[in-house]
Amino acid sequence: MQINARKAEVYFSKGVTAAMGLQLSETLGFQRVHNLVVTVANKVVGLEICKQLAQDGIMVVLTARDEKRGLKALESLKYSGLSDYLVFHPFDVADPESIASLTDFVKKQFGKLDFLVNSRDIWSKATDDKYELAEECLKINYYGAKRTAEALIPLLQLSDLPRIVNVSSSIVMLNGKGEKHKGVLTGVTTDEKLNDLITEYLKDFKEGLHGSKGWPTFISAYTVSKDSGKQVPRVPDFCINSVCPGYAKTDINLNTGTITAEEGAVTPGKLALLPKGGPSGLFFVKGEPASPEP
Ligand SMILES: NC(=O)c1ccc[n+]([C@@H]2O[C@H](COP(=O)([O-])OP(=O)(O)OC[C@H]3O[C@@H](n4cnc5c(N)ncnc54)[C@H](OP(=O)(O)O)[C@@H]3O)[C@@H](O)[C@H]2O)c1
Repeated sequence: MQINARKAEVYFSKGVTAAMGLQLSETLGFQRVHNLVVTVANKVVGLEICKQLAQDGIMVVLTARDEKRGLKALESLKYSGLSDYLVFHPFDVADPESIASLTDFVKKQFGKLDFLVNSRDIWSKATDDKYELAEECLKINYYGAKRTAEALIPLLQLSDLPRIVNVSSSIVMLNGKGEKHKGVLTGVTTDEKLNDLITEYLKDFKEGLHGSKGWPTFISAYTVSKDSGKQVPRVPDFCINSVCPGYAKTDINLNTGTITAEEGAVTPGKLALLPKGGPSGLFFVKGEPASPEP
C-alpha cells in the first residue's frame, strides 16, 4: 500500500493529540480516563513510550513480566509528575494466564481500551542456532503479540478509534529475498496462512533446512518473528500500524545504538495517537511509511 509521507506527518500533529485527550470515558463505574493505552515497558524504548504518552495526558497501563522491574520503572517516571497517568500491572506476554489477567484488569478498572503498543521482545537469544531458542523467540515476539492483541480486541472495540502499534524492526527489510520469507512479508492475507507459515518455518528450522528453503538466515528467528509480529491482528476498522524505533541505545544492541531511547519512542507514540482516518496497515521506518517489498 502506498501512502503520501507528508500526509502521514499531518496526522502526527500535537493539536490532534490534545483534542483526543479531551475525549472522556463516560462509562459510569469505571475510572474516568481520557484515553487508555496498554504497553509492555519496563525499560528504555518501551518505558520512554509510556512516558511520552503519559505526558500527552493518556492513561497508561505500564506492564512488565518482572514485577520488581516494572514497579521500579513506574517509580522512575513519578518524578516527572506523571503518577496520575500511570498504573502498573504484571504481564508476561508468553503466558496465556497472564494475558487473561491483564485483560481482566483493564476490563474491571477501565471498561475499555483505546490503544495497545506491543513492544515486548527477545532478541539476543534468537541469534543462537538452537531450535528451542528459535521457538521461544516466535512464542514471545509473534504468538505473544498475537494472543495479547486478540484478548484485548473486545475492549478495543469499545473505543471510538482502536489503535494498535506493533514495534517491529527494519531488520525485516534486510532480508526478503527468500521465497518463503517474501510470502511472510507481503503475500499473506489471513491469520491462518500466517500461522501455517510460522509452523512450517519452525519445522524447517528444526530440521536445519531453513536456509535452503528460503527463510532468512541472518538473525533468522528474530527476523521471522518481527516480520510476522508486525502483521497481527487483522481487524477491519482498527488503525493498526507497525514501526521500527530505529537503532536506539538499549540492551538489545548492548547500547551501541546511534539514537536515544527518547528518539526511538517518538514514532511509536505518534502512531498510537493517530486520529480517525489516519493511515493503517503500514510499516514506519525513520518516521515514514516504508516502501512495500517489490
Ligand atoms: N533498540 C533498537 O535498536 C531496536 C531496533 C529495532 C527494533 N527494536 C524493537 O523495539 C522494541 C523495544 O526494544 P528495546 O531495544 O527497548 O529492547 P529491550 O531493551 O531488550 O526491551 C525489551 C522489553 O521486552 C520485555 N520482554 C521480553 N520478553 C517479555 C515477555 N515474555 N513478557 C513481557 N515482556 C517481555 C523486556 O522485559 P525484561 O526486562 O523482563 O527482559 C523488555 O522490557 C522491541 O520490539 C525491538 O524489537 C529495537
